[in-house]
Amino acid sequence: MVFLLKSYLKGEVKISGSKNAFFPAVGAGIALGAKVIRIRNTPLVRDVHVMLEIISELGGWYSINDKNEIVIYAEELSPQTIDRETFSKIRGGVVIFGALLARFGKAHIPFPGGCKIGKRPIDQHIKAARSLGFYVEEEPDGVKAHGDIKGTKISFDIKTVTGTENAILMAIRSEREVEIHNYAREPEVQELIKYLERYGVRFMMDENTLVVDPRYRKHVDEVDFELIPDRIEAGTFIICAASTEGKVKIKNVISEHIGKVIEKMKEAGVKIRVDNNEIEVEGCRNYEPLHVIADSYPDFPTDLQPQLTVMLMKAKGKSVIEERVFPERVSHVYELMKMGANIEVSGNKIIIYPSELHGGEVVEAKDLRSAASLVIAGLTADGGPTFIRNFEIIERGYENFLGKIQKLGAKFYVEEREGMKDVSYPA
Ligand code: EPZ
Repeated sequence: MVFLLKSYLKGEVKISGSKNAFFPAVGAGIALGAKVIRIRNTPLVRDVHVMLEIISELGGWYSINDKNEIVIYAEELSPQTIDRETFSKIRGGVVIFGALLARFGKAHIPFPGGCKIGKRPIDQHIKAARSLGFYVEEEPDGVKAHGDIKGTKISFDIKTVTGTENAILMAIRSEREVEIHNYAREPEVQELIKYLERYGVRFMMDENTLVVDPRYRKHVDEVDFELIPDRIEAGTFIICAASTEGKVKIKNVISEHIGKVIEKMKEAGVKIRVDNNEIEVEGCRNYEPLHVIADSYPDFPTDLQPQLTVMLMKAKGKSVIEERVFPERVSHVYELMKMGANIEVSGNKIIIYPSELHGGEVVEAKDLRSAASLVIAGLTADGGPTFIRNFEIIERGYENFLGKIQKLGAKFYVEEREGMKDVSYPA
């Protein structure tokens, strides 16, 4: 449990490597048949550690150094059945499906888990495997697939990020070009494309279709990837700075990856200065109301919808966020209401009215991004401290979050947890 007090954030913060670009990097290494997979700029967050546990279960091993570099030794990897409990802790692990199919022509995975933000089926991943000609068996607890690639075309019914990553990975086994229609274009998918291009896989793309040509891929023993900065962490700090009326310089950001976020912040009246890979944010007391659509890239990211919900309570009028990716991603709304938020949920719309949040309440984080939104709420609420239960869930995806906000002047106190190490938050 963490106790937060109203604070104004000021100073500089450096963004860590992207959590969601880590999983496809592991997948790319496996699919390319590498014995050694080196991944630099890895955020040392809980979901990354779970992925490494999955790798160990598959017969690999790994090392981590103090420069955020992870080396996976994948020579002994085999497509064995993975423990259900481990696999169900994260979503990103699902890329193992495509990676093992590419490397061994077979895979057996339990259903993935991850944040509980609505239905998260894998029917599109299965569709991709079947479209390529793999024989797929759906079991009560997971999916088993084997075979060789005969198909050359995948058409997704909806845009799916990890589904597209899996399709690209599976295509690496093909002896012909593979077309992927209606693919997701999130920066993490674009990074996967870059990882593979580096080792000879060719790609052609337009807005709707991605063509993977793996025929010229290099057979290498070792691959080396560097992760891009985490765009969702960067967006979280932008919104946090704006909400607390702070002034924060955010370093190590690729601003094109958060183009829509910057656009919407400017529209609300947040002062934003972009300078190469740095963004300076200056907040103020009230903002213009917004209408935001949270949808696939390049639209506003769903992973910043809960954080934006908090900021929009400082708007001068009614704002609306349409959540088109995970319409059930509203757990934060009900927690914010306990703090005085005047919000309504209507279908996939979150309607936010100007509200003064008050502290002294106990709220509960149900998933990673709602934890971030509740922190922002706690830092902006008047009165006594805000208590966030299950706050630890933030460690799934934000590296040293408390250390970073403490350096920016956030006032908080962490209650000792049983079995928790003495955490020190470097100033
Ligand atoms: C990725 O999840 C991210 N996770 C999520 O990050 C992110 O919220 C999401 O993309 C959307 O941007 C990782 O990259 C590890 P989807 P993913 O498949 O791939 C439906 C975070 O906080 N769908 O693009 O699981 C699905 O229900 C997280 O870091 C199907 O119906 O998301 C959703 O409505 C959480 N069938 C929509 O598609 C499928 O087979 C998009 O989901 C697959 C998805």
